[in-house]
Amino acid sequence: MPRRILVTSALPYANGAIHLGHLVEYIQTDIWVRFQRLRGHEVHYVCADDTHGTPIMLRAEQEGITPEQLIARVFDEHTRDFAGFLVDFDNYYTTNSPENRAFCEDIYSQLEKNGLIARRSVEQFYDPVKTMFLPDRYIRGQCPKCGAKDQYGDACEVCGSTYSPTDLIEPYSVVSGAKPVRKASEHYFFALSDPRCQAFLKEWTRSGTLQPEAANKMDEWFAAGLQDWDISRDPPYFGFPIPGTDGRKFFYVWLDAPVGYFASFRNHCDRRAAAGRKVDLDAFLRPGGGTEMVHFIGKDILYFHALFWPAMLEYSGYRTPSSVYAHGFLTVNGEKMSKSRGTFITAESYLALGLNPEWLRYYYAAKLNGTMEDIDLNLEDFVARVNADLVGKYVNIASRAAGFIHKHFGGKLAPDVDRDSFGAEFPGLLAGVDVATEAYERREYGKCLRMIMQGAEHVNQYFDRHQPWSLAKDPTQHAKLHQVCSTALNAFRLLTLFLKPVLPRLATDVEKFLAIQPLTWSDAGTLLPGGHAIRPYGHLMGRLDGKQIDALVAANRESRAAPSPAVASHSPQRHPERQTHASADASQATAASSAVHISIDDFAKVDLRVARIVKAEHVDGADKLLKLTLDIGTETRTVFAGIKSAYDPATLEGRYAVMVANLAPRKMRFGTSEGMVLAASGDGPELFLIGPDSGASPGMKVR
Ligand code: MSP
Ligand code: ZN
Repeated sequence: MPRRILVTSALPYANGAIHLGHLVEYIQTDIWVRFQRLRGHEVHYVCADDTHGTPIMLRAEQEGITPEQLIARVFDEHTRDFAGFLVDFDNYYTTNSPENRAFCEDIYSQLEKNGLIARRSVEQFYDPVKTMFLPDRYIRGQCPKCGAKDQYGDACEVCGSTYSPTDLIEPYSVVSGAKPVRKASEHYFFALSDPRCQAFLKEWTRSGTLQPEAANKMDEWFAAGLQDWDISRDPPYFGFPIPGTDGRKFFYVWLDAPVGYFASFRNHCDRRAAAGRKVDLDAFLRPGGGTEMVHFIGKDILYFHALFWPAMLEYSGYRTPSSVYAHGFLTVNGEKMSKSRGTFITAESYLALGLNPEWLRYYYAAKLNGTMEDIDLNLEDFVARVNADLVGKYVNIASRAAGFIHKHFGGKLAPDVDRDSFGAEFPGLLAGVDVATEAYERREYGKCLRMIMQGAEHVNQYFDRHQPWSLAKDPTQHAKLHQVCSTALNAFRLLTLFLKPVLPRLATDVEKFLAIQPLTWSDAGTLLPGGHAIRPYGHLMGRLDGKQIDALVAANRESRAAPSPAVASHSPQRHPERQTHASADASQATAASSAVHISIDDFAKVDLRVARIVKAEHVDGADKLLKLTLDIGTETRTVFAGIKSAYDPATLEGRYAVMVANLAPRKMRFGTSEGMVLAASGDGPELFLIGPDSGASPGMKVR
């Protein structure tokens, strides 16, 4: 019985470009989807742009266009990028659609009927100039603990303390610069704290829907107690009005975003129906339809998909997810993607430089498994692995064998490649289908590719052992030569089948070369018919040159000359428990005021010294700080520096830095800080310590 599966990937925000981090998810999902299709299951893979919310509204305003214009442009960019990476959605849609609005209104009214919508007054910061409520990220001010300037509304980057925006000293709105005022407003809540929700979620969590790590995370959240979820926002807001509020309240973007899965699916069903290929919508969206709904997401949005979303569905008469598969985050060369290092690589730049999307698909697949662990794109390893595995092991088989078949045998395979001896030579290839199936199903792509590449290695060894180049010289050995090359090409065909979910384009080229029908999972365990004619070998895949990677990194390296406007680069709140920081820069909001001149005397007041880091240590209980002992020639100083995110203390000892030596000492929670070290930072979260050229010695003045 074919399975019927609705598959989704998370909906990317419509205010930014698709980058290699996103692609982990879309490639992971696409491989799974293609695998299920190859097995003959009915799969509907839908996605959409996530178009609502404050950042998109402000971004459009900043660009002087309407939100609709912004999302239309980004829609084109996103669909182009996904197509470029061979992500084969059945439908790609938008959350700003009539279908989505209708589903949101329906779900909301069902929840209300079920007594799961609460209302209460919430006091929040309000920008009196812009006349809007301010999400925490749009408020900055002075840290209440250490006095550091330009800190976000939720935590201090300098001393590491966390607080609420109401605690900030001299808060200001990032949008207008005005001093925010406190203002109360009525908010609508989804009553997640209701015992029904708790009971349902506990059951749902343990029903095999989540990975073990995710289920454990859920237990932590249960233990902490589920809180009602604020689902309304006051205008101005780009989103859907909440029914019955006369446009005074809008649905919070995270309410309508997952509903966008349904909207995209409905739109898909309507298009299918119009083309005479009806899909039974209710079988997928209502309980008991005998179908599956599988969500692929990143670990950062588990909270939304594993708490709010299933509970919302359960109490509004819809089906709940069968599986939520969370993956980890992408790092590049072991570090967070960074604009300044050029590792925040856009999908567009990769394709524009002519890099083959299947190289990346292969590399990600080789790294992916079914857990939430982060995965690393090591650029050197990327080059090595693509060249060694794909080109060196796999494609090589075809190029080696095909030449002999055409030169000596008129392009026809041997009449009698014997199944038993083939199976004896390559047991994994004939019987490996179960292992591959199981591995793909469980998203253990790395495991699957290791098996496939072992198979490819065996084929190359087989080829070498029989030395076809020598057989070719001896006419009495030509039958043997024919067997060897035909066997190798049969093996190549089966390898191609197993690789097809990962390398769909290459597989299509191979199908042309082998002159066969599109491979499907039912071809596993079969061989080509005797005497089968193939086409001449054409180029299948080139090598990846390290220089292409250098060019890619250079193309993505952002100069720090033009800081982007403060509101443009922030993503909305990702985690309702506590907002996380997207960047450590304090530069953006102050850029405007830095035009004022200072005199040389002002500058001379700052006593800058070369300092040698004698010791660098972790500080108990501080998230962001390292304790540095600095030698400045005449004395040593203790400085608490907010550089923990960027430096391992072990690597700092012995390095030179530049310190402000006449800064008034400041008492902190962990001790007294006697100065400051200088570091550079930009749009991203990264920090770069400033150091002198070699030859400078501790205590030298910097001027
Ligand atoms: N709009 C929300 C999702 C709404 S789903 C109803 C969102 N958008 S996003 O553009 O920030 O991210 C889209 C997906 O890409 C998320 O699943 C996210 O985890 C994933 N990734 C974004 N950056 C990533 C990495 N650096 N690495 C791996 N996946 C990442 O969240
Ligand atoms: Zn502080």
